[in-house]
Amino acid sequence: MGADYLKDFTMIDMKDIVALCKRRGFIFPASDIYGGLNGFWDFGPLGVELKNNLRDRWWKDMVVTPPIGPDGTPLQIVGLDSAIIQNPKTWEASGHLDGFSDPMQKCSGCGHLVREDHLWDILTTSSRWFDSALQEFEPVTGGIDSPRLMSWAKSKGKKLAPNLALVKNPEVVLSFLATRINGQPDAPPDVQEIFRHLATGQLHETGLQEPCPLCGGTLGEAAPFKLMFESNTGVEQGPDSKVYLRPETAQGIFLNFKNVMDSTRVRMPFGIAQVGKAFRNEVTPRNFIFRGREFEQMEMEWFCHPDEAAKWYEFWIAERKAWWRSVGLSDDNILMRKHETDELAHYAKDGLGTVDVEYKFPFTAPGYGELEGVAHRGDFDLAQHQAHSGQKLEYLDQARDNERYMPHVIEPAAGLTRGVLALICEAYIVDENRPSGVYLNFTPAMAPKKAAILPLSAKPEHVEPATKLYLALREDFAVDLDIKQNIGKRYARQDEIGTPYCFTIDNDTVADGTVTVRDRNTMNQERVSMDKVAEYLQEKMRG
Ligand code: GAP
Repeated sequence: MGADYLKDFTMIDMKDIVALCKRRGFIFPASDIYGGLNGFWDFGPLGVELKNNLRDRWWKDMVVTPPIGPDGTPLQIVGLDSAIIQNPKTWEASGHLDGFSDPMQKCSGCGHLVREDHLWDILTTSSRWFDSALQEFEPVTGGIDSPRLMSWAKSKGKKLAPNLALVKNPEVVLSFLATRINGQPDAPPDVQEIFRHLATGQLHETGLQEPCPLCGGTLGEAAPFKLMFESNTGVEQGPDSKVYLRPETAQGIFLNFKNVMDSTRVRMPFGIAQVGKAFRNEVTPRNFIFRGREFEQMEMEWFCHPDEAAKWYEFWIAERKAWWRSVGLSDDNILMRKHETDELAHYAKDGLGTVDVEYKFPFTAPGYGELEGVAHRGDFDLAQHQAHSGQKLEYLDQARDNERYMPHVIEPAAGLTRGVLALICEAYIVDENRPSGVYLNFTPAMAPKKAAILPLSAKPEHVEPATKLYLALREDFAVDLDIKQNIGKRYARQDEIGTPYCFTIDNDTVADGTVTVRDRNTMNQERVSMDKVAEYLQEKMRG
C-alpha cells in the first residue's frame, strides 16, 4: 500500500479503448438507443470478426487439429453445441443451485448492495468520494493531513459521502485516527486501514467498519446472492416451470458424456469442446466487457483415467499458456497463477486445484485479471450427474483389462469475450507520429480485416483495378475496399481498426501493374506486382 498504492490509482483507464471500440464498430453498449443495459454488450461489424477469428482459432486448435500428446500421438477432441437451457435438475446436481452465489453487503446508510470481495476494487476505481478524499492525503507518503481532511469533511465530503463517519463527526474520527497513528508510530496505517477509520464513528466497539462506495455509510454482514438467471418454460408458470440460463457451458458437456461415448469412436483419454454463451447475474458487471452478465466461453472437458489426471493437468496448463501467446498476447502480460485453497470453485475442492491464465489488463495493472482457468474437476460432475439421473456414467476401459472407473476431468475453461478484450488491450498502441495517434497491432491472423484495397482517387482508372483486386482477394481473405476520402484519412482508419496491410492503386499501377503496400506497424511502403498480392498476403498470414 502507501505510495505504490497511490500510483496504481492513476493507472491508464479504459476510456480511450472503449471510445475507439465504439467509434470504429468493435463493441457497442447493448440497447444503446435506450441508454444501455448494465452488463450487456453488442459486438459491431469489426468486433464480431475479431471474436470469430479467436473462436475459430480455438476450435481449430482444439477440435480440428488438437495438440500432439506427451507420448507423440494426436489427441482426440470432439465438438458439441448443447442447449443453453437444460433440465433444472442439472443445476441441482452440478451444485450451482446451492453454491453459485456471491457474498453481498448492504449499506445501512443508502441501501446500496456491494460485493464483499470487490469492495476495495470498486472503491479504488469507481467511487467518487473515495477518489476525492484520497486527494487530501499527502501525495507521496500516503500519510494523512488532519486539517485538510477536516475541511474536506465540511465541504466536498458533505455532498459526496454524506454517511461517512468522518463527515458526520470529523473531530471524533480524526482524533481516533491520530491516536492510532501516534500509538503505533512504527506501523503506520495503510490506505485501507485509514479509510476504515474514516468510516467508523463509534468508539470502535464493533471494530473498524467498511465504507460504502456510494455514500460512505457502513456495510452490514455479507449474505449470499444467487447468480443464475431464472426463466420459465411453457404457458403455465409456477415452481415446476422454472428453468435457468446456463452459468457455464461445461454442464452441457457432462450431460452429453454418455451420448458422445455411445455415438462416436472416442476412447479414453479424450476431450469434448464447446463454445457458447453463458449467463451470470453478476453483482458488479464492470471493466467494459471483462465482467458481463452475458458472455461467451470456450470450454473443453478432458476425460482421463484418475491416475493420469496429474499428467494431463500439467499438460493443459502448459498448452493453454502457449496458446494465448500464439494469438498475440505477450509473455510479459501473462501470469500463470495457482488458486489459493479458499478461492477454489466447489467442483475443484478435492483435486489438484486450478491454475488461472491471467492477463495484465490496463484496469488491473500492475495486477492481472483472469482469462482462463485450468481446473482439475476430478469426478465431481460425472459422479453427481450419475447420482441425480440414475444413469451409469462409468467408463469400461478395454485398454485396461476392462477396468470400470469414473473418469477424472481436466478443464481448460477460457473466456472468449475476455479473450477479445485482451487482444484489443494488447494491440492498442499509442503513436503520436501518425495521424490516428493510435493503432491496433493485431497479428494478421486475428485482425478483423487482413488488408484494405485503396484506389488513390475515385477515377475509374484507379477504382476499376482496385475493385478487380478486391474481388479476387475476398475469396480467401477478409478485405476492405475503401474508395472515398483522402488517402491519409483512409490509412488512419485502417490503423485504428488494426488492418496490417493497405494496397494502394495509383497511376503507376496503370503503367506497370504494381501496387503500393503499406505496412501498418512500420508505415513503410514498397511496391509489389498486383498479381503477387495474394501470395504476399498468404505469406504474411503464415508468419
Ligand atoms: N466451467 C468453469 C467455469 O465456468 P469460470 O472461471 O467461472 O469457470 C471460465 O469461467 C472463464 O469464463 C473465465 O476465466 C472468464 O474468462 C470467463 N468469465 C467468467 N465470468 C465471466 C463474466 N462475468 N464475464 C465475462 N467473462 C467471464
